[in-house]
Amino acid sequence: MHILNLYYSATGNTKKVAERIAATSVAEGHTVETVQLKKSTDVQFDVRAYDLIFSGSGVYEWLPGKPVMSAFSAMTKNYREKGLIQQPAQRRRNNRAVTYCTYGGTHTGANEAVPAVKYMGQFFDHLGFEIIGEWYFVGEFHGAFRDFSLRGKLGDISGRPDETDLRHISEMVKGVLKL
Ligand SMILES: Cc1cc2nc3c(=O)[nH]c(=O)nc-3n(C[C@H](O)[C@H](O)[C@H](O)COP(=O)(O)O)c2cc1C
Repeated sequence: MHILNLYYSATGNTKKVAERIAATSVAEGHTVETVQLKKSTDVQFDVRAYDLIFSGSGVYEWLPGKPVMSAFSAMTKNYREKGLIQQPAQRRRNNRAVTYCTYGGTHTGANEAVPAVKYMGQFFDHLGFEIIGEWYFVGEFHGAFRDFSLRGKLGDISGRPDETDLRHISEMVKGVLKL
């Protein structure tokens, strides 16, 4: 399969996950193109050109990072202008996506990560993609919010995602590659 590994990572946690997704997919014999979204990414790719997309972000105020929202917004505008956002959204047989996040969950646990994963998923769903996975991975807080990693709703999450998490992620990737 031709895979797009699309992600945004402000403090490195999602980057670790995206790198493991890429390594696992390549080891399984697939072609992977990785795009790390930055503050002002000028989107040059067409998501419909990929069989499978992994789309990930850290969670910020229960949404994906702003660069994700601005890139997805620009892409939506572009596809809408081309008449590709249809009512109802037409299913595309060969386009599938997994949306995932890394999150701290310090206040309400996984609930505060759900909107981020759904936000990304709706972009692909509007284009007719089949969403074959919605994944939530714990990611420690860095920088000024470091303490939030110690006593939030998920307890001590320092060091996550760790090697155990990444091994588990690798297995999940192998699972969806078989679908
Ligand atoms: C400013 C800031 C705001 C955050 N807001 C949330 C939030 O609303 N909900 C949540 O679950 N985690 C929140 N987090 C934790 C991050 O989502 C988590 O550390 C994530 O793994 C960061 O991913 P990244 O390193 O790829 O950017 C926040 C972290 C920071 C630094």
